[in-house]
Amino acid sequence: MATNRTFTMIKPDAVENGHIGAIIEKIQTAGFKIVAMKYTQLSEADAKAFYEVHKERPFYGELVAFMSRGPIVAAVLEKDNAVEDFRTLIGATNPEEAAEGTIRKLFATSLSENAVHGSDSDENAAIESNFHFSGREIYA
Ligand code: PPS
Repeated sequence: MATNRTFTMIKPDAVENGHIGAIIEKIQTAGFKIVAMKYTQLSEADAKAFYEVHKERPFYGELVAFMSRGPIVAAVLEKDNAVEDFRTLIGATNPEEAAEGTIRKLFATSLSENAVHGSDSDENAAIESNFHFSGREIYA
């Protein structure tokens, strides 16, 4: 995958709270092109696998339960400097620490239910995109 891509999920809290449309608008207004997107739900096994890197952290069980409790929107986004620019757009992990105007500041309710995921490296963007999408599902 090209390094101008990142992967995101609109998390179950934001879907439950009716924020899908507003979050997608923020993403597109910030200049990201959507090259893959699906409305789906992670099974408990999916969430465990996706977040396996965090399995030793104390919140792992809570994170897995949260991410598998309802639908999500998964997407691959394209833009120059996508990973870093998207992390800036979504804001700090804890919405209380997120900058004004960021997606988490606007739509997240807590540290554990923080509305969106954004890949933290080009390598993980590719791994996470491939977890959710086949090559044929990503617009070339
Ligand atoms: S980050 O974004 O990866 O740098 O943040 P990190 O602190 O390493 O957190 C990794 C993911 O775990 C979520 N998280 C938590 N979930 C539940 N409870 C607590 N306390 C908590 N702290 C962090 C955080 O939202 C990250 O999920 P993703 O999906 O990567 O955003």
